Amino acid sequence: MIYLDSAATTLEKPEAVARAMGRAVTTMASPGRGGSEATRRAEDTAFACRSEAAELLGVGDPARVVFTMNATHGLNIAIRTVVQPGMTVAVTGYEHNAVTRPLHAIPGVKLAVLDGPLYRPEAMVEELDEALDKGVDAVVMTQVSNVFGYAMPVEEMAARCRKKGVPFIVDASQGAGVLPIRADAWGAAFVAMPGHKGLYGPQGTGLLLCGAEARPLLYGGTGSRSRDQRMPEELPDRLEAGTHNMPGIAGLLEGIRFVRRTGTDKIAAHEKRMARQAAEALGQIDGVRVFRRDDFSCQTGVVSFIPEGYDCQEVADALGRRGIAVRAGLHCAPLAHRTAGTLDTGTVRVSVSAFTKPEHIVRFADALQGVLCEKVTN
Ligand code: ALA
Repeated sequence: MIYLDSAATTLEKPEAVARAMGRAVTTMASPGRGGSEATRRAEDTAFACRSEAAELLGVGDPARVVFTMNATHGLNIAIRTVVQPGMTVAVTGYEHNAVTRPLHAIPGVKLAVLDGPLYRPEAMVEELDEALDKGVDAVVMTQVSNVFGYAMPVEEMAARCRKKGVPFIVDASQGAGVLPIRADAWGAAFVAMPGHKGLYGPQGTGLLLCGAEARPLLYGGTGSRSRDQRMPEELPDRLEAGTHNMPGIAGLLEGIRFVRRTGTDKIAAHEKRMARQAAEALGQIDGVRVFRRDDFSCQTGVVSFIPEGYDCQEVADALGRRGIAVRAGLHCAPLAHRTAGTLDTGTVRVSVSAFTKPEHIVRFADALQGVLCEKVTN
């Protein structure tokens, strides 16, 4: 299989990830529970993972790196902490349901949608300025659109929120491991991300970087202050009720080590080369509309396209039968499609990773030509 769905989950991982997970299953207990060697091993691994993540993601204190199940879990904690009923929240027009559904679930929340055109970061900043001038209570934004690979001007947007004192939450699902994340320097209240995409960890892992006091979503045992029926005030315990996913954390640690060793700049440059190659190959196929900016600036390793006159899901399924894995449809981000004008059709999405090779893109483009030809002649 040629796997080009890394925006959903990176499938090929550094070998050390699965090895560490296997070891953790039989050698690690739970941090903070008991005094055995197995407990100590779990504590050391969890601390090492927090510390490596803090270094990579610009967090001064590893205790403010909280383990979550995924980005959605972290975003729910962040949004439930910052956003109160009736507030007005600015979001970009490219958000995933992981942002919009938790906001929708809070009674009376009004959205100010910054729906500037694709790949126009300066328009996004202007819209944010207008929204901040009108008055918003919080800003929640994706770092990179999962549908279009559009990298938002997060530094500029963070600076504006800081200046106005408006709480700022970042969904770094597509940016973590690829683009710089400077959680403390941004002054972000929270930055949420999954472990299983650009950080090369397993599914079921995620990180929440905390720059503000957080309200727990889950209540329960933490292995600390056990007499007290309130959740501990201090992080990470405040947000980590229940037994940790140690195999997941051990795998995530190795994924993060891989990213730090390789360097996000190098990974980003490779992914951009692969995505650009895909966009250029798609541009050669008649009737294929490709979403890209000419110079590919502000775009990451994600390219969406529409094979005009075909159903996107049918094309993705036909590619799947030829051994090419891509994702089609709305990608859990109807708002992004509404903003880009693709809500009726969805798109087919190709997304790459550090392990994608140029020949994978060639095989994908050949297969797509074959699928489209087959459909014309049928
Ligand atoms: N949000 C993930 C994607 O874009 C699952 O496919």
